[in-house]
Amino acid sequence: MPRIEAVKVSRTSRLTGTIRLPGDKSISHRAAMFAAIAEGKSRISNFASSADCWSTVACLKALGVNIEGGNGDIVVHGVGKTGLHEPSASLDCGNSGTTMRLISGILAGQPFSSTVIGDESLSKRPMKRIIGPLTEMGAVLESVDGHAPLAINGRSPLKPLRFQLPVASAQLKSCVLLAGLFADGETSVIEPVPTRDHTERMLRGFGVDVRESTNDGRIVSVSGDAKLVATDLQVPSDVSSAAFFLVAAACLPGSRIEMPGVGLNPTRTGIIEVLTHFGAKIETSDDMVSGGEPIGTLTVSGGGPLGSAHNRIDGAIVANLIDEVPILAVFGTQTETGIEIRDAGELRVKESDRIAAVAENLRRMGADVEEFDDGLRVGPSKLKGGVIDTYHDHRIAMAFAIAGLFAEGETEIRGAETAAVSFPEFFDVLSSVSNG
Ligand code: S3P
Repeated sequence: MPRIEAVKVSRTSRLTGTIRLPGDKSISHRAAMFAAIAEGKSRISNFASSADCWSTVACLKALGVNIEGGNGDIVVHGVGKTGLHEPSASLDCGNSGTTMRLISGILAGQPFSSTVIGDESLSKRPMKRIIGPLTEMGAVLESVDGHAPLAINGRSPLKPLRFQLPVASAQLKSCVLLAGLFADGETSVIEPVPTRDHTERMLRGFGVDVRESTNDGRIVSVSGDAKLVATDLQVPSDVSSAAFFLVAAACLPGSRIEMPGVGLNPTRTGIIEVLTHFGAKIETSDDMVSGGEPIGTLTVSGGGPLGSAHNRIDGAIVANLIDEVPILAVFGTQTETGIEIRDAGELRVKESDRIAAVAENLRRMGADVEEFDDGLRVGPSKLKGGVIDTYHDHRIAMAFAIAGLFAEGETEIRGAETAAVSFPEFFDVLSSVSNG
């Protein structure tokens, strides 16, 4: 990661320009992993620049997969479902929960043992949620009281499982479905609240028969005899990265930002729905579909009142904007009504406790904020510059850089380099579209 000690952000009058955002983080992880266990060579274009996705690539290489390229385009020489090699050292997932939880599903079904490790933050995140189902499927996992390092003693084949998600987590769903590809029968995951469905869409792109039905929730099933066939795909640009510019431009009158090639999967676009509901001017065009993912251009213009009498965001939509809550809370300060976000308790176990981190930093900037176990209420507020503690969390760093654009005085983002976890180019892009 480049060493950026602290970044200072000051008030900006408007944002203008066209932004080409890096590839979607969630989709890139899956593309690399599925291509690795597919038969044949897959070309993946617009692969994320995110440090997290490069953790996935490093883990796959350590499992014997040849992956070439960098800078947006990679070629993965798939080894098939039986071709991974026992790694000679622990697999380092860095800061990436998606790497650890998804790859554990694959490792559980291998005829060898491996250990996954992560940085300080990842080592505090809950892994019991994957240990439970993978153990039921027959793998033996050892952890430090439910946390990484995780030693995974694989079993081949695994036992099939019918599993109801206890938390709305696409990482958990994907972990179990990936393990299901190595089981001797059909594995089903039942999700009471639909979460991002990139795994389902992309597995189909790799030739896997993914079945779906509904009965008190969405049921997704795969069979252990499924074979993955290499495919070429284009990763859409990351709508979670777009979110920062959607909010910034919507709140600064005279702004106009165009973002082509953005992933518009409805399980990810809760942020667009909410901003539009609050009066933000956002246009979307549906341009193409790649790897089963809809891709389009987002155009956002600033000006006009922002707010809603129905300003409480809760229930099923929260899963579709879970990574956008920090920037949505910042958005709340710039509205006439404020915003209340509930049913978001999962935020307490992300890269940081995002509810506490957002509340603390908003208070430092003089905002009116109330913290709940499962969310926040943010009142309309005049922000003043402050010193931001990112808690080593990329989305906190970027959300508060945007808050700094609205604030009186200077805002210092301490530990801003953490933005590279998902969006290494963020500060360069922000300065390239900022005017005065
Ligand atoms: C992700 C799912 C979400 C999200 C994370 C990426 C994924 O996590 O917060 O940034 O790629 O599946 P959970 O599954 O833990 O909710």
